[in-house]
Amino acid sequence: MSLSSRDKKRVWHPFTQEKTAGLPIAIKKGKGSYLYDEQDNTYLDLISSWWVNLYGHAHPEIAQSIYQQATTLEHVIFAGFTHEPAVQLCETLDPLLPASLSRFFFSDNGSTSVEVALKMAYQYWKNKDGKEKKLFICLEGGYHGDTVGAMSVGSECGYHDHFRELFFNVLSIPFPATWDNDKNVEEKESRSLAILQSHLEQNPGQIAALIIEPLVQGASGMRMCRPSFIKKVGELIHAHDSLLIFDEVMTGFGRTGSNFAMEQTGIVPDFVCLSKGITGGFLPLALTVTSPKIYEAFLSDEWKYAFSHGHSYTANPLACAAAVTATRLLQSEATQQAMHAINIAHQQGLATLKANGRHIMHTRIQGTIAAFDLATPAQGKRNTGSSLPRQFMREGLILRPIGNTIYLIPPYSTTPEELLKAYEKIERVLG
Ligand SMILES: Cc1ncc(COP(=O)(O)O)c(C=O)c1O
Repeated sequence: MSLSSRDKKRVWHPFTQEKTAGLPIAIKKGKGSYLYDEQDNTYLDLISSWWVNLYGHAHPEIAQSIYQQATTLEHVIFAGFTHEPAVQLCETLDPLLPASLSRFFFSDNGSTSVEVALKMAYQYWKNKDGKEKKLFICLEGGYHGDTVGAMSVGSECGYHDHFRELFFNVLSIPFPATWDNDKNVEEKESRSLAILQSHLEQNPGQIAALIIEPLVQGASGMRMCRPSFIKKVGELIHAHDSLLIFDEVMTGFGRTGSNFAMEQTGIVPDFVCLSKGITGGFLPLALTVTSPKIYEAFLSDEWKYAFSHGHSYTANPLACAAAVTATRLLQSEATQQAMHAINIAHQQGLATLKANGRHIMHTRIQGTIAAFDLATPAQGKRNTGSSLPRQFMREGLILRPIGNTIYLIPPYSTTPEELLKAYEKIERVLG
């Protein structure tokens, strides 16, 4: 029996309608930007396997660092204990982050990094002066993960409607999504900012924090906004004595053309959430990084002011070792050049698609991320109704359109030639 059939008998997959989904594709090997299935078909992984795999599959240096760590210390409880890879990771990341983001709290995935930021923001106000600030503001379409807190602040993303009754109260503002030659961007931004201003004025002293995916909303369809908008949002939030959370789970580690998207915004958040690419796609790990101001509000002679949160695998040494090596790879000249080359190839690829008169609109690029919308009605948020993923796979490409948006977020190991060839294949499929 094939691996796919054995899987079908036992496994329950994420974000999948198990009744109608076809057999899952059994991948037996990954190397560089490619994945190989049971039948020896080769696929270019243009979504970096759910946006985690930044430096290519089975990267030998990351693999080696995990192996070495595994023969020394595979895990140890992180309450009351520490270890070299965790401290080293903080020391390696610290110079890449704004000076005030210097306290690192570990967890395991993007959702928990967000959950931690929300809980810290809420408790910060209580610890500081006994204030109960119960409201959070989020951006329409924002996706922050699948735990209950993360779903609450992602309540407008369209993925979690079943659980709406469980959510805590949030306020939202429109996300001024923009694209090449967008004439209305200023109008959209002004509207969002006016709504934000009004939320802040109508709920004085009640907003714990605002959470935003800076520059690019991932799961809502790689929707992009201008850095100046984020700056204005941040300034308003800080002016109203509220906290700013940047969810860089997807945008972090070079994705948007800088190490972190926040560098382009000119504003420093109170929290940044990091995961996905942190280990180069090898092991689950997440960080919520915050400032001394927040950290110090939890210091007390009384235990009740401590942050009462933790996971069994917090700061797993293997994941930390992988992340240290991945962060070094990010900083290497070769990776920086590769990211730049991907950006140029995206520009060429999208320009050719447009020039050849395909029915595409809203082309947009941010760093190594490119996206466009098909000029056809959206088929709903998820991919289930679309045969496009299968058609792309027949061409040897892994792409997962979101509604009528097609996006490419390749590993940095992808060459411009591979990418341009992929654009030709995309054109063929769309044709
Ligand atoms: C911006 C953002 N935040 C949080 C998450 C949740 O991360 P995870 O799937 O690791 O829980 C995601 C996942 O796609 C994301 O894109």
